[in-house]
Amino acid sequence: MAQPLLKIENLRTYFYAHSKQAFVRSVDGVSLEVGQRETVGVVGESGSGKSITAMSVMGLISGGPGVIGGSIHYASDKVQKNLLEGLENYVQLEEGNGRVLTVKKDESGWQKASEKLMAGMRGKEIAMIFQNPRASLNPYITVGEQITEAVRLHSGISAVKEARERAIHWLERVKIDSPRLRYNSYPSGMSGGMCQRAMIAMALSSEPSLLIADEPTTGLDATIQSKIVDLLQELKNETGISTLLISHDISVITRLSDRVAVLYGGAVVEYGPASQLLDAQAGFKHPYTAALLASVPNQQKIRARANLQAIEGEVPDTINTPPGCRFYARCNQITPEIRDKCAAIHPELKDVAPGHQVRCWRFIN
Ligand SMILES: Nc1ncnc2c1ncn2[C@@H]1O[C@H](COP(=O)(O)OP(=O)(O)O)[C@@H](O)[C@H]1O
Ligand SMILES: [Mg+2]
Repeated sequence: MAQPLLKIENLRTYFYAHSKQAFVRSVDGVSLEVGQRETVGVVGESGSGKSITAMSVMGLISGGPGVIGGSIHYASDKVQKNLLEGLENYVQLEEGNGRVLTVKKDESGWQKASEKLMAGMRGKEIAMIFQNPRASLNPYITVGEQITEAVRLHSGISAVKEARERAIHWLERVKIDSPRLRYNSYPSGMSGGMCQRAMIAMALSSEPSLLIADEPTTGLDATIQSKIVDLLQELKNETGISTLLISHDISVITRLSDRVAVLYGGAVVEYGPASQLLDAQAGFKHPYTAALLASVPNQQKIRARANLQAIEGEVPDTINTPPGCRFYARCNQITPEIRDKCAAIHPELKDVAPGHQVRCWRFIN
């Protein structure tokens, strides 16, 4: 198999929560891959570590200690490297009783080394789009000029006229009406959906190898959401760009992903082909994935006004990790045979089918 474009291994990103005087493990051993031309969906409820995973890849974590270990191998036509190469040397960690006790990090050493590794990556090799696109755009510069600037900065086109034509080309490709007129619009004069189209145009205009889309449709009206998903689908088919798609909304993940990683409490609990993982009837499934799938509204549930929040309990505390499975307290699929193991030992990710892994004692002999 060809080398994946992005291969995250055992990524750990921690923060010190002053209010609790303790370290939270927002990302705690995430491993996942994005292959060439592939869209990998990352799904999980709010607080599961999705955005922090993405920001760690971009080298954009603010707040300490931040990324403390793991590797992020990146391999496009132009760049092959581990974006965290050698950085573990700047960190010392002391753990005990399921808690992180101290983290010593040489922040300036880390920062310098990280910036060196990230040089030429952000915006050029890896582009990112976010929730709330209007806030990501500069309110004082027309969208056309912002895209032109991105083209000049990243795509090697320095002539203004040519860069302008490229920008208009990208406004056309994201299906903004009258792109030549819209070129001169300010973000405040555009709808949320149109701002997201402009953001997507700006991200793609530098022809990156990887697009990270973090909740690209969250916060938009339902009909606009659906149109943005349609657009991402079309661009995926046309450009074949590899995408790491993050969403708490499993219906968005379902429409776009080739493979899916389910995140729970800062770790991947299930990873596999979208067709298998998202099939509610398929045999192998993490109980958390099953609960996420059961929470998707359908006509019947809406009519019955059923409670859509099918998963009871709270997102786990990542300060004190209990020794057993992190989903133990919320799991409704524990059987007497496995109960002791679920309570006492954290399960490994285990192959349940080719390319499909689940972190659950039900599938470990
Ligand atoms: N700077 C920070 N300081 C402390 N905790 C943080 C910080 N940033 C994020 N967190 C915590 O990390 C967890 C994961 O956050 P995030 O990746 O944003 O979740 P989501 O899956 O919703 O995108 C959350 O519990 C969040 O409160
Ligand atoms: Mg998020």
